[in-house]
Amino acid sequence: MKIVIIGSGYVGLVAGACFAEMGHIITCVDNNPAKIESLRKGIMPIYEPGLDALVTGNMAAGRLSFTEDLGEALKGADAAFIAVGTPPRPTDGHADMKYVYAVARAIAEKASDDLVVVDKSTVPVGTGDEVERILRAAGRPFRFSVVSNPEFLREGVAIDDFMRPDRVVIGSEDAWSRNVVSRIYGVEQLKDAPILHTSRRSAELLKYAANAFLAMKITFINEIADLCEAVGGDVRDVAHGIGLDSRIGEKFLNAGPGYGGSCFPKDTLAISKTARDYRVELRTVETVIQVNDNRKRAMALRVVDACNGNVRDKTIAVLGLAFKADTDDMRDSPAIPVIQALQDFGAHIRAYDPEAMENAKSIFTQVHFCRDSYEAAEGADAVVILTEWKQFKSLDLAKLRSIVQAPLLVDLRNIFTEKDAAKAGFDYWGIGSKNSGAPALSQALAAE
Ligand code: NAD
Ligand code: UGA
Repeated sequence: MKIVIIGSGYVGLVAGACFAEMGHIITCVDNNPAKIESLRKGIMPIYEPGLDALVTGNMAAGRLSFTEDLGEALKGADAAFIAVGTPPRPTDGHADMKYVYAVARAIAEKASDDLVVVDKSTVPVGTGDEVERILRAAGRPFRFSVVSNPEFLREGVAIDDFMRPDRVVIGSEDAWSRNVVSRIYGVEQLKDAPILHTSRRSAELLKYAANAFLAMKITFINEIADLCEAVGGDVRDVAHGIGLDSRIGEKFLNAGPGYGGSCFPKDTLAISKTARDYRVELRTVETVIQVNDNRKRAMALRVVDACNGNVRDKTIAVLGLAFKADTDDMRDSPAIPVIQALQDFGAHIRAYDPEAMENAKSIFTQVHFCRDSYEAAEGADAVVILTEWKQFKSLDLAKLRSIVQAPLLVDLRNIFTEKDAAKAGFDYWGIGSKNSGAPALSQALAAE
């Protein structure tokens, strides 16, 4: 089928390349000329494992192309997917819909035949109705129908998530559009993926509910980690033990510095704002947002505690800047508030990330960016791990120990154990075990 994807970012580009791989003819559109120019040369605007080969392979096979010209792309298309950003509006935190509505107006103007418009961006309930109203208000002599088809991929494993999804959700209001989108996903490669048909509004809400639930799960385990530190348990054992219950599940129970990224923070905020517009209070979600926000500065305080209560004029080596491993995405990364807080407290920061350095350079001031982990550790009073990159897991801790000024390892992703660290001569502060935080109450009581 002939499909147009509007917005060639993390979602649009991955969706375009994967649909092409499934045999569809894809045109990816973006209004950023530099992005289109480099994509045509096979240069990826983002770091996503495997994307490079998928894009260039499908371009060579004639199934994937890139353009700024929406009108040309829409000629003969069966469907147009909207995959532009829906960031939080700076004034009030509601999802900023200006990019989605601009695309709807552009489609209304440039379409040259009947068209199914599929919203893949994460959007508040009722957006599909508004997009349909915009399309119809243009008074063009074509049929338009709008479908909600939310995307559940994770950055870093985006291709696998897209090609082997847990489910495909198609929220539609008529048989024509439902059939078109069902045919797009009804390909051999996706034969095992359950397809869930819902109303358009249910599909829109379901996406936010999924992200809010996952954010809640992470926040829950982070709070249990705090309790483990206080009582002398180990959050890794607790997470494993509760996760073995199939009603809970083991995934997304890794305690850390708080969730970040371009989705959970903005989507939890957006669903809570939508709810209040409908006079419903999502108090669990509102609490999750607050607990997660507070956690990031608390992580900086943990580094201060580990440094005997003072980081003024101390050198802190930060390993990992991206919001998670296997991406260069810095949007809402926990590294941002943690580093800024450490700088507020007077620390000098040396930092390294395998992929996110370029994006990080436009965010931070006064950070010394290094070529690798060992260079970052030179003269450091503490090494802080903020992203769980695989290459950090295989660091030579003994070598690192010989480079640092003081042997202190603050591991905010629990990629090492206290034993690994101790063997190399490091004092270890992890997350959610009795050695992680301030002296445990149980230790204090024992000492009495
Ligand atoms: P992004 O910022 O990486 O990409 C958006 C792209 O749209 C940019 O390249 C931008 O230039 C382009 N664009 C903006 N206005 C345009 C217009 N009028 N015409 C053509 N192109 C235009 O965003 P993203 O991370 O891909 O997210 C897109 C949507 O998908 C968001 O709603 C997000 O919540 C949702 N989502 C993202 C992920 C993820 O992992 N990033 C996963 C699931 C869902
Ligand atoms: C998330 C969802 O997982 C996707 O299903 C969804 O499509 C996407 O948001 C979206 O809507 O954009 P993503 O943001 O790429 O995907 O990354 P995640 O793997 O979910 O991680 C989000 C944050 O939670 C990261 O900061 C990560 O470090 C943190 N996290 C994740 C934890 O702290 N612990 C965990 O156990 C899992």
